[in-house]
Amino acid sequence: MTDLKVLIPQDKIATRVAAMGEEITGDFTGESVIFVAVLKGAAVFLADLARQVRLDATFDFIGVSSYSSRPSPAHELKYGWDSTGEVRLTKDVDQSLRDRNVILVEDILDTGLTLSFLKRVILAHQPRAFRIAALLDKPSRRKEPVQCDYVGFTIPDEFVVGYGLDYAERYRNLPDICVVPRE
Ligand code: IMP
Ligand code: MG
Repeated sequence: MTDLKVLIPQDKIATRVAAMGEEITGDFTGESVIFVAVLKGAAVFLADLARQVRLDATFDFIGVSSYSSRPSPAHELKYGWDSTGEVRLTKDVDQSLRDRNVILVEDILDTGLTLSFLKRVILAHQPRAFRIAALLDKPSRRKEPVQCDYVGFTIPDEFVVGYGLDYAERYRNLPDICVVPRE
C-alpha cells in the first residue's frame, strides 16, 4: 500500500480551509462559537479551520462508532462503508450546548449516516445555532440526506486518506489528501 496518489495537495487544502474560516467568521460576527469535532478524523481539520476563524471560540469532541458495519478495513476499502445504518455514541460532549452556536466539524460526508445521527444528538441539546462543516463530500455514496453548511471539496467515490483520514488507523498524518488504490 505504498502507491497512494495525491488527490488534494496541502496548499489547496490550506487555501480552501482559510476561505471556510472566513465564511464562518462572517456568519457569526460578534458571537461566540463552539466547534464540536468528530473523533478522530476531524482533529487535523479542526486545528486548521479553527485558526482561520476570528471569533471567540471553544473546542469540544464527540465520538461515534458503527455497529458491525465495517467487517474489515480491506472490505471497507473495496466496497465502502456498507453501513446497516446503526451509529452509536462512544463519547459525548463535555460541555452544555444549550443556547450555543455549535459548528460540528467532520472530515468526510459519505453515506450521511454519521452526520444525520450526530445532528439529532446535537439538536437534542437545544443549541442556539447549528452548522455542519465537512472537509470532504462524497455525494455519490449518500444514503441519508444531510445539509452541510460549509463543504471543503466534493470528491468522487474513492477511498481517501491523509489530513486526519485513516485506513486502519494509518495515514492520518499525511499532509495531502490521497487516494488509496482499490487493488
Ligand atoms: P458516513 O456516515 O457514511 O457519512 O461516514 C462518515 C465516516 O466514514 C467518516 O467520518 C469517516 O470516518 C469514514 N469514511 C468515509 N469515507 C472515507 C474515506 O474515503 N476515507 C476514510 N474514512 C472514510
Ligand atoms: Mg470519521
